Amino acid sequence: MYIENHPILKQDNNQEVTFFYKGTTLKANHGQTIAGALMANGIKKFGITRKLQQSRGLYCANGRCCSCFVTVNGLEHVLSCMTLIEDGMEVSPNSGDPDVRRGDYGN
Ligand code: FES
Repeated sequence: MYIENHPILKQDNNQEVTFFYKGTTLKANHGQTIAGALMANGIKKFGITRKLQQSRGLYCANGRCCSCFVTVNGLEHVLSCMTLIEDGMEVSPNSGDPDVRRGDYGN
């Protein structure tokens, strides 16, 4: 579901973008955030919390809570509510610590 006509929407918001989520090809509108693109495709669970294994997803939608982390093109812990979707992007759920905290880095 999209709002198609609104004074603040840019003309190029109707341009279609293709991205991949867990091996599935999905469509989004140019200018959407990754979180918006996932929600528009019916995906509300973006990952699980490390300790309690609880669902994570969109919460504040303005870059404050870090609940919406996803992995984008192999880069972990990307804020999906603050990052625009791009054509060909590979998005996957982000569950756990980033690689920098593993192995030789003290954990
Ligand atoms: S939803 Fe809170 S930082 Fe993205």
